[in-house]
Amino acid sequence: MNKTAIYPGFFDPITNGHLSIVTRGLQIFDRVVIAILNNPQKVPLFTVEERICMIRESLIGEPNVEVDTFDGLLVDYAVRKNSRVVMRGLRALSDFEYEFQMALMNRKLNRDVQSIFLMTDYKWFYTSSTIIKQAARFGGDVSDLVPPVVNEKLKEKFASLKNT
Ligand code: PNS
Repeated sequence: MNKTAIYPGFFDPITNGHLSIVTRGLQIFDRVVIAILNNPQKVPLFTVEERICMIRESLIGEPNVEVDTFDGLLVDYAVRKNSRVVMRGLRALSDFEYEFQMALMNRKLNRDVQSIFLMTDYKWFYTSSTIIKQAARFGGDVSDLVPPVVNEKLKEKFASLKNT
């Protein structure tokens, strides 16, 4: 039986930390679905289409990864995708409380869906999309924290925002 894990998040944008989780997930599961939450209440830096393009380009040559979007409950989406596994990355201890809350809520909503946590590479322990965007906005070099396509798109995005 094919085992699929759902890897949900905003991925605004995808980082090397996220890629580390995807790579590790592929060692355990046959397929990983990167599921971008389409949340109209949150104003992202990149559109969903831009995020999908960057993820696809960062994972070129990886046939067992699907990039998709979802709205509504994550557990319902997992069932629609024929998966019973939600995969999340854990960085420092500070992630734990938030992840624990989400996992317990997801379990309450559907007891058949399991949450599993993978530890990202220690190199990415203290990075997040948010902190990377903050540094990139003011011209900080984040090239070793994100895939090359994301580095370019961050520069383009902040240059275009400066000109508006
Ligand atoms: O990487 P993020 O930004 O912390 O991802 C959060 C995400 C998308 C996993 C979470 O907000 C989510 O699953 N939202 C869907 C709505 C849902 O199912 N909520 C109940 C569980 S918290």
